[in-house]
Amino acid sequence: MDETRIQDRSGAGEPSIADLEETAPTRQAAISGGVRTPRPHDSGAMHVRGTARYTDDEPELPGTLHIYIAQSIHAHARIVSLDVAKVREAPGVACVLTADDIPGQNDYSPVFGDDPILAEDEVHCIGQPVFAVAATSRDLARRAAMLGIVEYEVLPHAILIDEAIRASDLANEDLLPAHTMQLGDWNAAIASAACSIDGRIEVGGQDHFYLEGQIATAAPLEDGDVFVRSSTQHPSEVQHNVAKMLGVPDHAVTVEVRRMGGGFGGKESQPALFACLAALVAVKTGRPAKCRLDRDDDMVMTGKRHEVRIDYRLGFDADGRIAGADFAHVVRCGASKDLSGAIADRAMFHADNAYDLKAARIHSRRVKTNTVSNTAFRGFGGPQGMVGIERALDRVAHLTGRDPLDVRKANFYAPPGQTPGTTPYHMAVTDCVISEIVDELEASSDYRARRKAVSEFNASSAILKKGLALTPVKFGISFTTSHLNQAGALVHVYKDGSVHLNHGGTEMGQGLFTKVAQVVAEEFQIDLERVKITATSTAKVPNTSATAASSGSDLNGMAAQAAARTIRRRLVDFASARYRVPKEAIAFKANRVVIGETEKRFSDLVGEAYLARVPLSSTGFYATPGVAYDRERASGTPFYYFAYGAACSEVLVDTLTGEHRLLRADILHDCGQSLNPAIDRGQIEGGFIQGMGWLTMEELWWDAKGHLKTHAPSTYKIPTANDRPDDLRIAIWDKGENLSETIYRSKAVGEPPFMLAISVFCALSDAVLAAGGGRRFPDLDAPATPERVLQAVESVKA
Ligand code: MTE
Ligand code: HPA
Repeated sequence: MDETRIQDRSGAGEPSIADLEETAPTRQAAISGGVRTPRPHDSGAMHVRGTARYTDDEPELPGTLHIYIAQSIHAHARIVSLDVAKVREAPGVACVLTADDIPGQNDYSPVFGDDPILAEDEVHCIGQPVFAVAATSRDLARRAAMLGIVEYEVLPHAILIDEAIRASDLANEDLLPAHTMQLGDWNAAIASAACSIDGRIEVGGQDHFYLEGQIATAAPLEDGDVFVRSSTQHPSEVQHNVAKMLGVPDHAVTVEVRRMGGGFGGKESQPALFACLAALVAVKTGRPAKCRLDRDDDMVMTGKRHEVRIDYRLGFDADGRIAGADFAHVVRCGASKDLSGAIADRAMFHADNAYDLKAARIHSRRVKTNTVSNTAFRGFGGPQGMVGIERALDRVAHLTGRDPLDVRKANFYAPPGQTPGTTPYHMAVTDCVISEIVDELEASSDYRARRKAVSEFNASSAILKKGLALTPVKFGISFTTSHLNQAGALVHVYKDGSVHLNHGGTEMGQGLFTKVAQVVAEEFQIDLERVKITATSTAKVPNTSATAASSGSDLNGMAAQAAARTIRRRLVDFASARYRVPKEAIAFKANRVVIGETEKRFSDLVGEAYLARVPLSSTGFYATPGVAYDRERASGTPFYYFAYGAACSEVLVDTLTGEHRLLRADILHDCGQSLNPAIDRGQIEGGFIQGMGWLTMEELWWDAKGHLKTHAPSTYKIPTANDRPDDLRIAIWDKGENLSETIYRSKAVGEPPFMLAISVFCALSDAVLAAGGGRRFPDLDAPATPERVLQAVESVKA
């Protein structure tokens, strides 16, 4: 094992930044904070001190109004009448808004035009906005909203997937058309295989539980323009929706975001609602406005990860080698379309995970429920798709009597250099390093010895049972809507040599700003401290895509590099002409520039270039090459490359209560050549624990009338520091290298580690299997809460 690997093998503590610095590749030029160095998050110290400013921390402008949103109390109803007369008269109220007050389009949807900002004649879920009140305080606004009188005619509703399927079948229409991917003669392959299995798993949704809830502020500007601060992953979409709602051009609206307190996908499409309402109040009243949700309202009103039902059928040989597979997804979209089409597609794109299925069909239905509209969430459907095949493979292992790891290994896509396998959407998998990663993790986690130890423990322990699982991740990187794979940046070099960096990406804690600043520091060969990271603004970089699909640093890193390179080229041209040296004799080195025989400080050369009237500002642009998916034919290359990783988890289950604990997890993850190993490590750990929360404890529960009963931390349990295993061994794969030309050959890391947590779910199933003496494969849906685990234990014992 290479000692440059960033790892914590002891389990006793975290490596310090100093440890990490030591393990960074040897650098010739000694700038501080270039690429591949494990620099802390640029706001890390401010986060800890509490001085990092979030939207709500910005000083309020005098006269700011606070908005409360009155919501539907029915899952599906016609609004017969709406009377807000008493609301208008309530103390402190400056303005009451209904759908009639919207000057432009009453819609904040990302694609389909089916998300009214304020309800018109029908409501489709509890929590849907009906009217909004702006008052001098949030409390007064909320009290006033209670005085509104809404008369409803209640209509039939569907809350659960089964109800949604029934309703869709009756109407002969799903919320979105079904989609199918097919590879080879999957039906014949399954039918003629030596063995086959079929089964179902229900995979639950997840609330984003970002620490900072949804919030937007708006300030009126001259000429009817408006300035919006929004906690959003997608400032351009907020800008566009606000403009569309006001009936003004996009140029009349500026949206800014310095940082979010977490987004996780929940701030990709939904922030537009709150920004629209704040902007409308600002424009109507001429006063600044703030719309900030409290936690309960946030959980009731905002969409979540999609719940998916997966039916699977696999044909395979006696060794568990798959000959053909059939997956049928039913995706619970909620009340409107939002991003559900792309999310359900991504679930399909990941139904194969890391396995060469040879012949397969993936079918996906997208159904409407009268619950809040589900939306993007880390992995964007991919995790749900992957759970299906991992579950199915555990079942294959049980039937064939083989170790689940051996079944997995027998089915991996071929490594680079060998004939590549083809995905169910006909993309050749040419960069599959999963075999190598899994072999390494199998050895470093001591899988075989621990498998034996777990068996021995289970043989001697009647009540407590252990489970072990090692599962792979292969995750496609790129927006599957190909045109979204573009980014812009704006770099200024001031005449003192300091640099101002702006790009279209947003910072939500993932460290994007730090990484992109490292790229710019590297390009100019200046210390990272010379690069000022600034808030994302639609006035600086236009038409941006959401910071999503894990591609923030891939896209914005390249765009910023392009901008910096333009300025650097101009500096080289200038120095070459001024000092009469060939361009090849000019080099940027550690805060200095070598110009033939002489050397200058970077800042001095910049100062000279300024006096010589050289432009020191540039935009940069990047578009990912070669990505295209033909949806009509369900065929193409939607991804630029794949990110890989594997995790081995060991759990302990109390078979009398169903309570469980993750005892140890070993992770080996491929970040390509990591831009920043410290930040990537944080993403791996955070993603894994968030994934564990999704699969083992976070349960969304609506009652029969469509009330979300788990709308606060009192009833919705997310993992805490206590749930992190005492023994957590995370390693970034030291052989990682992106075969595609990404920024410094790094790989995206935001989402892929989330799916490493499938190993925890599989380990729980393994422990339950042991509780029944290995005879019956347990029925276990996700999340595997203690209740579900207990039920599964009872069923395998029966
Ligand atoms: N990490 C933190 N701390 N907070 C977040 O909200 N979002 C995740 C991931 N990591 C998130 C995070 C999601 S859903 C995505 S898509 C990526 O970060 C987005 O950022 P990137 O493209 O820069 O990786
Ligand atoms: N991933 C994440 N977010 C997205 C995507 C995607 O593929 N498409 C649109 N928003």
